[in-house]
Amino acid sequence: MTANKMWGGRFSRGPSAIMAEINNSIDFDKRLAREDIAGSEAHAAMLAARGIIDKADADSIAAGLATIRKEVDSGSFPFRGEFEDIHMNVESRLAELIGAAAGRLHTARSRNDQVATDLRLWVRDACGRADEGALGFQRALLAQAERHVETIMPGFTHMQPAQPVTFGHHCLAYIEMAERDRGRFADAAKRLNESPLGAAALAGTTYAIDREATASRLGFDRPMRNSMDAVSARDFALEFLGASAIAASNLSRLAEEIFLWASPAFGFIRLPDAFSTGSSIMPQKRNPDAAELVRAKTGRILGAFVTLLTVMKGLPLAYCKDLQEDKEPVFAASDALDLAYAAMAGMVAELTVDAAAMKRAAEKGYPTATDLADWLVAHAGTPFREAHAIAAKAVAKAEALGLTLDKLPLTELKKLAPEITGDVYKVLSIETSVAARKSYGGTSPERVREQIAFWKDRLK
Ligand code: ARG
Repeated sequence: MTANKMWGGRFSRGPSAIMAEINNSIDFDKRLAREDIAGSEAHAAMLAARGIIDKADADSIAAGLATIRKEVDSGSFPFRGEFEDIHMNVESRLAELIGAAAGRLHTARSRNDQVATDLRLWVRDACGRADEGALGFQRALLAQAERHVETIMPGFTHMQPAQPVTFGHHCLAYIEMAERDRGRFADAAKRLNESPLGAAALAGTTYAIDREATASRLGFDRPMRNSMDAVSARDFALEFLGASAIAASNLSRLAEEIFLWASPAFGFIRLPDAFSTGSSIMPQKRNPDAAELVRAKTGRILGAFVTLLTVMKGLPLAYCKDLQEDKEPVFAASDALDLAYAAMAGMVAELTVDAAAMKRAAEKGYPTATDLADWLVAHAGTPFREAHAIAAKAVAKAEALGLTLDKLPLTELKKLAPEITGDVYKVLSIETSVAARKSYGGTSPERVREQIAFWKDRLK
């Protein structure tokens, strides 16, 4: 193989096949093509504005890059392994299109600042897509919450019936989580929005470049202050991956719940045909595969975070080729997260709730025992610990008689605490239990309606 045209000046022969295989990144960094073109456009325009290259060359570079963008958009751009990576593919193609002037584009820059710039632009967009995905998911949850302000379901702790809640309240909990996920993506996008371009290989450049100009043209807030940091930092990608891993784990929690609720053993929801799969042997099946796959994608996304964090750990300044391994985890996590958000939004939007099944389940397990204790505190002045013990005995009695708490006769209750009156039955049904939880953030329909109003305004 002949020596590399871009960097092989001092080499008498080209890389071995194995060297090329381990070194080439074009198979995956082709996804940076648009960002690479944008970076080159900004750089060339700045070089001309500073008189570092002449106007005619800059114009021909701009025209060539415009053609390349069209080729990328239409799928006709010839990505070639012999040119290693996206940067050299674009530059080589530019040389084919415009000739010698293409050789002026790489003045005052390096692939090191180039790739750092490209990836920042890509991750900035990925943060935007994650935000869109999360917003779609939140809107689907909000629509369900509005439908189910008064739909009672069991609220669990330890997966044991705890206190009744509403399905609307449950949905709103996930909207809150998604909002914090969006906050993390917004923070990451804000912090990463500085331009490495012009840092060159690591030390800056001898040319009188204008880093402010390229930064602002690419939508960055400012140039990065330190050239060594600029070419070697990837913590911005780690932040994106960390935020993605947390978001995925939040999605996975709801995926798990959907998976349980859709099982006939719960029977709380029915997933639409569009989000169910059948079995080739068991004709009755409606499997929640999408929920299972969202749950599983968390592994891939967290894996991407761990992969890149491990690459970064112990890397000396400045650029090392290890950094080429930053892209695949970022792309893989972003793809998986975008798909997970879409699948979750689709499932949530279209699932139907079996309110009667939820209610039956909510009545099981004596979920109003706390209400009985609270009644004793409020109406008989009983200390809470003592009231708790009385309510526990009432549960044991009801269980022995095979009754729910609100059907336990007053005579039985009075045996446990003579101060109990018929008034207590007002608090022992699941409806009154839910309605009474009016504290800020509580599950009462009154409070849930307030939360819905807040989110309707916020997610407009
Ligand atoms: N493909 C390389 C990467 O992704 C581009 C930077 C190469 N720089 C270098 N000094 N070899 O990191």
